[in-house]
Amino acid sequence: MLTRIPKTEIKRGMFVEAVECSEVAFGKRRFFLDSDREMSAILKSPAEFVLINTTLGAVGGNGARLPDRGVASLPLSPAQARAEAAATVARSTRLLKAELIGLVTGDPFDMASIKPVVEEITQADQQTSSFFFEVTRLKHKDETTFQHSLAVSILMGKLGDALDLDVETVELLIVAGLLHDIGKLTIATGILQKQGALTAAERSTIKSHPRRGHQILKSHPAIPEEVLDICLHHHESLDGSGYPSRLAGSQISQLVRISTVCDVFDALTSVRPYKQGWSAGKALGWMFERDRQFDRKLVLRLGAIIDA
Ligand SMILES: [Fe+2]
Repeated sequence: MLTRIPKTEIKRGMFVEAVECSEVAFGKRRFFLDSDREMSAILKSPAEFVLINTTLGAVGGNGARLPDRGVASLPLSPAQARAEAAATVARSTRLLKAELIGLVTGDPFDMASIKPVVEEITQADQQTSSFFFEVTRLKHKDETTFQHSLAVSILMGKLGDALDLDVETVELLIVAGLLHDIGKLTIATGILQKQGALTAAERSTIKSHPRRGHQILKSHPAIPEEVLDICLHHHESLDGSGYPSRLAGSQISQLVRISTVCDVFDALTSVRPYKQGWSAGKALGWMFERDRQFDRKLVLRLGAIIDA
């Protein structure tokens, strides 16, 4: 049954059929309202009313029941949800690719241009996020950096949520995930995708990607400091063995630590043409054992999300 309620009466557990506003963020999305982020996004939107489906979710609000509009459609089946997630990942990858290449070639940075990708990630429910992980595990040769960035961004957003970081910080993490490896776009594909052993010079070139990326991003005043920090330092290690600055311990911020854990997790679990990805459990266990490198609390929290 469909019920129209004022947005101020929304609560967790409701199934939202529509948010009555024209913002792209909500589009035609139907979703379970199960996070503070979604609640906040609706409350901040220009919408006054929300259409909820009381057959599929919690009942609430004092809004008038809508006149008979027929039976609401059922939630997507897992197969439909997986197909929708795959389409979203493909669309977001295309958009991200265009934006990152634009930045490298000197276009100005406009947060609004990556907003649709950020919104896809922030609006995803638990099931959709799981399918995002599934789809982005398989990296296509020419899209590896973009799909990795998207996957890391999704993981960082979910981890930020799980840590109860505020909405603005979670959005920063998502943006940082999308941009963190932009420096790789300035490195020859032949080196990035080389399957054999790298020479010392090639390894050094690849390790220069955080500085290259930071150089690109810092020329754009609209890019927040935290995003620059993550771009430059996402390969640092708690024991000081990382690069490029050999930061250690408390010199590495919590947001950077979040990026590191998500970055390595995605790298270990990704399937590439030349390697099988590790299982999530194996990757988490490997990182958990290396608490001199990775923040163990964050690894545990990431595990809780992945298992959820
Ligand atoms: Fe990187």
